[in-house]
Amino acid sequence: MIPQSTIDQILEAARIEEVVGDYVSLKKRGTNLIGLCPFHDEKTPSFNVSPTKGIYKCFGCGKAGTSVNFLMDHEHLSFPEAVRFLGKKYGIEVAEEEQTDEQKEADRTRESLYIVSGFAQRFFTETLHETDEGKAIGLTYLRQRGVSPDMMERFLIGFAPDKWDGLLKAATDQGYNPEFLDQTGLTLSGEDGRRHDRFRGRVMFPIRNLSGRVIGFGGRTLRTDKKTAKYINSPESEIYHKSNVLYGLFEARKAIVDEDSCYLVEGYTDVISLHQAGVENVVASSGTSLTEGQIRLIRRYTPNIVILYDGDAAGIKASFRGLDLILQEGMNVKVVLFPDGEDPDSFSKKHPGDEVRTFIRDNSKDFISFKTGLLWEEAKGDPIKKAGLIKDIVRTIALIPDAIVRSVYVKECAGILDVEEQALVSELNKLRRDKGRQKYKRSEEAPWPEEDEYTERTPDNRVHSLEPPVQDTGMYQERELIRLLLQYGGNEILIEKSTEEEQPADNKPEMVPMTVANFMIGELQADGISLRHEGYGRIFDEICRLVSDGEVPDEKQFFRHADPTVSATAIDLLSSRYVLSENWEKRGINVETEEMVLKKSVYKVIYSLKQNHVMDMIHQNQEKLKQDLSDAELAEVMSMQNLLNLAKVQIASQLERVILK
Ligand code: CTP
Ligand code: MN
Repeated sequence: MIPQSTIDQILEAARIEEVVGDYVSLKKRGTNLIGLCPFHDEKTPSFNVSPTKGIYKCFGCGKAGTSVNFLMDHEHLSFPEAVRFLGKKYGIEVAEEEQTDEQKEADRTRESLYIVSGFAQRFFTETLHETDEGKAIGLTYLRQRGVSPDMMERFLIGFAPDKWDGLLKAATDQGYNPEFLDQTGLTLSGEDGRRHDRFRGRVMFPIRNLSGRVIGFGGRTLRTDKKTAKYINSPESEIYHKSNVLYGLFEARKAIVDEDSCYLVEGYTDVISLHQAGVENVVASSGTSLTEGQIRLIRRYTPNIVILYDGDAAGIKASFRGLDLILQEGMNVKVVLFPDGEDPDSFSKKHPGDEVRTFIRDNSKDFISFKTGLLWEEAKGDPIKKAGLIKDIVRTIALIPDAIVRSVYVKECAGILDVEEQALVSELNKLRRDKGRQKYKRSEEAPWPEEDEYTERTPDNRVHSLEPPVQDTGMYQERELIRLLLQYGGNEILIEKSTEEEQPADNKPEMVPMTVANFMIGELQADGISLRHEGYGRIFDEICRLVSDGEVPDEKQFFRHADPTVSATAIDLLSSRYVLSENWEKRGINVETEEMVLKKSVYKVIYSLKQNHVMDMIHQNQEKLKQDLSDAELAEVMSMQNLLNLAKVQIASQLERVILK
């Protein structure tokens, strides 16, 4: 953990124009700088940098952020890596948070595990190239398989001698503590309590982390008898967390970025052979099913994944679950099926690199259509299977976050399955509604109004799809709410003191000063109104916390927030604002005093949010009328309806007063 004070210090020192200027050529324009966006292709510059705000924003592709975000995106760094990078650039020492003795000890242990793993890798590599056993067995095998010396070097391939204490002895002779060998799983103790090597007589494939350090191994036997496991792998350890590692990513990441695509294969040998054929944007899940952590790793470099399968249908179907995960992350998935009996390894041995590339390009199929086609083959002629299949496909489509992409798939799959689009649409709507319900069950609040994302049929009985319910004007109001809170939360405005008693008509109401934040939060909480937008909601919750602790929220806190949804929302909010307000000043519209304008904006937002809230409640109440109700229940619903209508009229007139004033 880097202490927040250091992060703040670094962000104060880091000049956005300098950090971005290292990568983008910037020209001055007014108080801002402008250049060609490094995140998307463009010919006219729409990439803005604001030195005063310390942020950048591209009006072409929407990317925005601080110096840290820029480095994270542009250089593919993690948050702490980006902070350390800036620390170096600006000469600020990044001391890790005051560590406890245990933390220091844990760090030392981890470092020791890296060191013995590195030693083991060098030992195995030396054994492969410099011992008789290694040369006669390991090297001969690798040569037979056609692995080039370059690839052996690139992937640090080695050989573990067929002895109980080959590595153990070499390591202890060099003074390494065998405790650490145990902790990496390179050695283990048998029932007799004697320590021995885990990997014996195997070709060794080291597994590296993103900085290239060795964290584990896969060892392939050269025996062909069925009793010996083909691979033995390092167990989980302090430095090797399997669900967050992909074999080959260290070697592949540059190519993945250049190609904007990542090939995913099953095995070590597939990765190595593809590299040898010149196809370098490839990683392996190492035989296990893909985890969320691994998908996120890939997403740091590209949203495009192509899965390369050997032609084994059972294996392919087993992987479908993992693929749903990828879709859910909003990534694009394609699949390539290799000809029967071939895997990426054997195929790239038989064909030159450019043919491999062409084959992959020409045979990539979009995943959902591929899955649909494959299952459809099986279900042919069996109506029950077919019904199950439709549900299955729709469940997959429902995972895709983007509504437009979803509707494209609905069309496509209806075609493949030869069913009416409407059948898929209603199943999809049902699923997404259920999902929505689950999501909002935790809170006691009203769920979103349940609207289908597609309309039912039009009078001419044709289905037509619509955009999902527009993130209505409520979103605009929520945005405005957060903007006001962040920008003016600490300002005071005069509010009519509310009293229980009726005021005599000629008495002017008593006015009390109140901060914008206290007033707005109080009003919303009193009516139990919560925000719908996830990012705004999180920021609002945090502002409430700060305010109740007596603090004044500061927009910078949110720019730098560790929660990426929060920081992205805050940056988006404030960066678009300052562009707007510049126009505002230029046109000289500012005729009213700031306090009046502010108060008006505050009331407008509050009443608008209240109005939306009442409309939601009316909608829900009306839904109840669709059910079979007893007379008593009906009376209750009707009287509720009257109350809500009354509230609606009141709010509308208040809103009108504010707007007209
Ligand atoms: N695997 C494993 N344990 C096994 C078998 C396989 O961990 N007993 C993992 C390995 O990561 C392996 C991957 O699953 O790389 C794919 O398995 P397979 O295709 O059998 O191995 P390859 O690496 O392709 O090896 P080879 O080409 O030498 O058969
Ligand atoms: Mn294989």
